[in-house]
Amino acid sequence: MTGTTTRPTGPEQLRSRIAAELDRTRARTALLTEAVDEADLTRQHSPLMSPLVWDLAHVGNQEELWLVRDVGGREPVRRDIDELYDAFKQPRRDRPALPLLPPQEARAYLLTVRDKVLDLLDRVAFTERPLVADGFAFGMIVQHEQQHDETMLATHQLRAGPAVLHAPPPPEPTVRVDGEVLVPAGEFTMGTDTDPWALDNERPAHRVHLPAYVIDAAPVTNGRYREFIADGGYDDPRWWSPAGWRHRREAELVAPMHWRRDGDGWAYRRFGRWAPVRDDEPVVHVCYHEARAYAAWAGKRLPTEAEWEKAARWDPASGRSRRYPWGDDDPTAEHANLGQRHLWPAPVGAYPAGASPLGVHQLIGDVWEWTSTPFRGHPGFTAFPYREYSEVFFGDDHRVLRGGSFGTDRVACRGTFRNWDFPIRRQIFSGFRCARDARPEESQP
Ligand code: AVJ
Ligand code: FE
Repeated sequence: MTGTTTRPTGPEQLRSRIAAELDRTRARTALLTEAVDEADLTRQHSPLMSPLVWDLAHVGNQEELWLVRDVGGREPVRRDIDELYDAFKQPRRDRPALPLLPPQEARAYLLTVRDKVLDLLDRVAFTERPLVADGFAFGMIVQHEQQHDETMLATHQLRAGPAVLHAPPPPEPTVRVDGEVLVPAGEFTMGTDTDPWALDNERPAHRVHLPAYVIDAAPVTNGRYREFIADGGYDDPRWWSPAGWRHRREAELVAPMHWRRDGDGWAYRRFGRWAPVRDDEPVVHVCYHEARAYAAWAGKRLPTEAEWEKAARWDPASGRSRRYPWGDDDPTAEHANLGQRHLWPAPVGAYPAGASPLGVHQLIGDVWEWTSTPFRGHPGFTAFPYREYSEVFFGDDHRVLRGGSFGTDRVACRGTFRNWDFPIRRQIFSGFRCARDARPEESQP
């Protein structure tokens, strides 16, 4: 099972692999949109999010644009709805007021588009044309739908009312993971030229030199984060950047999103159920400013994006960069908490098989990890196949997040995968780990 998702051996294997991924992904979309009634699908649960029925038809519209029309060269299915489902023409807060397709019409639209795509998949020649080589456009569309599924999962988390999503709890820890890991000074390869379904912002591969640094062996836990709260961290401007402190005051932040006081402790609302905050789970639903403040309080800092990627991919034995911390094989349930199998982060120590060669745990899955790096193109970046996926977001407004969460599918997550958001956002499944410069005596071989 080496890299089967993205490295099939011939066109027929590629075809059946794509069909399986399309199918698996659509089943997740169906689960997320059939768990609630029609009123719930068309309602806006938060001004930050679209009504679920917008995401649903948008997923179908992107599939139509890229696969039916561009790759297939076929006639439009619904040219008339392109504007409605163009994320750039319709700001999220305005989407509920649009004349959206009602749920049954949206479902029928997705079915029509999917029929045409499966027909096309039967005949398509995976030529050297970049859009179709290695099935890239199909992979891009599968990843796009999975990304919207994670967004819909975040909408479910914001939704009021009783629970509608169910999943078993994540696995218990089997090893003790604590402390920090030294990453020695030197070059490593960041980004990729070879992963066929890697998106434009992951390319090209390039060498990066980093001085020696130290990174936490695990994401920051609720237990540690509670110490920061108890120590008055939210009330001490010393730990916050000026912009962070301004935001902390305006938004009246006192704890992660979805937390409330519960006796002497805290409770955390996940998908309609309150549960006591468990100390050994990674903290989730914190914004960049909170992560940065915690790191300053702890006498550390957030890792840069390059530091995160070197910790996740660099193999000291071979000097190569791997696809994942554990090697090049696609993630399984042993490696990482991905794919909405569970509805919250797993306790630290639950995924020893997913650790990197240097002993850094839970880099993939559980929580998206904030880095200190603004989102920009790698050196030599070229937008492909459209500027609106990545390039229009480059600049200082967004910070990079890495590693994926419990709600990220394995097809949309790897050691090179890059996510980004505004530093004030915390409705996403975001946490962090800390890093620091190595002290001279630590970096001696
Ligand atoms: C990469 C998660 C920031 O959801 O805004 C979905 C992914 N791009 N449709 C987003 C995306 C176009 C994107 N993120
Ligand atoms: Fe989209």
